[in-house]
Amino acid sequence: MNLDNKTIVITGGGQGLGRTMAISFAQSGANIALIDLNEEMLQETTKLVEQNGVSAKYYLANVSDEQQVENTFKQINDDFKGIDGLVNNAGILRDGMFVKAKDGVVVKKMSLAQFQSVIDVNLTGVFLCGREAAVHMIESGNKGVIVNMSSIARGGNMGQTNYSAAKAGVVAMTTTWARELGRHGIRVGAIAPGVIRTAMTDAMKPEMRDRLESMKPVGRLGEAEEIAHTAKYIFENEFFTGRVVEIDGGLSM
Ligand SMILES: NC(=O)c1ccc[n+]([C@@H]2O[C@H](COP(=O)([O-])OP(=O)(O)OC[C@H]3O[C@@H](n4cnc5c(N)ncnc54)[C@H](O)[C@@H]3O)[C@@H](O)[C@H]2O)c1
Repeated sequence: MNLDNKTIVITGGGQGLGRTMAISFAQSGANIALIDLNEEMLQETTKLVEQNGVSAKYYLANVSDEQQVENTFKQINDDFKGIDGLVNNAGILRDGMFVKAKDGVVVKKMSLAQFQSVIDVNLTGVFLCGREAAVHMIESGNKGVIVNMSSIARGGNMGQTNYSAAKAGVVAMTTTWARELGRHGIRVGAIAPGVIRTAMTDAMKPEMRDRLESMKPVGRLGEAEEIAHTAKYIFENEFFTGRVVEIDGGLSM
């Protein structure tokens, strides 16, 4: 897909990787619809996107709320006269040990609420937004692309039962959708980033960051632009579908 004059929806576009991808796609001429819960950040991203001479609009919505997602995608489809792409990027972390014990005594366990909150946003949210994007792409006859954000944690990671389960599910949905939606000309891919430099990693203790950096063959954290570059590759490469790109500097967990 050539991104010029296409309409791409980005969830979690208020900040972080979502914002960087929005700006990067805009630099290639794409019009951008941003979904997030944080209005102030959405306004800021919208301004940055518009500086590239494309249209941008933002929508306040919770990706895990079915009614809000249905209404928002319908509104985006009307506002932009169609949807060509979606990046399912909104995500949260609520880390904690599955069962934490000291001297044989259980002191804490992951609550169902803690588990479910991450599943709701990182898995159900991806399902709902992917479904609504596909509905509009099929009904308008648009050949579309859906990119889902997974994570290196999809293989399982200490303290991330909820996050790992959701991110593994995202890859399974990616393959399933690629197979189901291929007949409509819709391609679906996933990205599994390692640790990317963000405000969160900048705030880490230097020794923790040094340890993470030294674990990678490339010797540094990833940059948000490198994830945007990967998303662009999935959009542009017409032979890519049903697969996950691991972009983690060679880090093994
Ligand atoms: N940053 C990394 O190192 C890294 C690594 C692997 C995977 N990822 C994944 O990449 C994606 C983006 O990560 P990031 O670091 O930019 O995160 P971030 O926390 O900086 O941004 C996430 C955005 O999603 C929004 N959001 C959260 N819940 C929402 C909801 N229910 N509805 C709508 N919007 C919601 C937030 O408001 C925020 O703007 C996530 O899916 C994350 O799991 C990030």
